[in-house]
Amino acid sequence: MAILQILEFPDPRLRKIAIPVSVFDARLEVLIADMLETMYEAQGIGLAATQVNVHKRLMVLDVSENKDSPQVFINPSFEVIDEDLFDYDEGCLSVPGFYETVSRPQTIHARAQDYQGQEFELTAEGILSICVQHEIDHLNGKLFVDYLSTLKRQRIRAKLEKEHKKTA
Ligand code: NI
Repeated sequence: MAILQILEFPDPRLRKIAIPVSVFDARLEVLIADMLETMYEAQGIGLAATQVNVHKRLMVLDVSENKDSPQVFINPSFEVIDEDLFDYDEGCLSVPGFYETVSRPQTIHARAQDYQGQEFELTAEGILSICVQHEIDHLNGKLFVDYLSTLKRQRIRAKLEKEHKKTA
């Protein structure tokens, strides 16, 4: 397994729209294992393939307390069950160090495939719902900072660009 490099805002590659996964093979399993290892190492609760510069519709997450319940979503989609908004201080491994409140629908019904291509569905609420919506956004080239005011987003962008210059 390997730790993959995570792209950081405002990297334009985070804006690419991912394409569906059609081949469920050993290479895909390696990618999933690497993404899980990368997510756990970075202490994140979710990671989309887009964030590691693989533009396929695939994401991993683990919202459990003990970090022992990895979930893999391939070609995910969702519909909103409860329009009521849930406020959560979101963070993102691609926007390190920033947490901002985002409002998203509370309850969703998600559909996806597992690593073998088997379809599954689930109803998600609370943090799981937020996390699934956040990761699917990544696959569509969208980041949580897009929900913030232009001023806030520009401030975050400027700070991260400064950080990137320092470490370049
Ligand atoms: Ni994220």
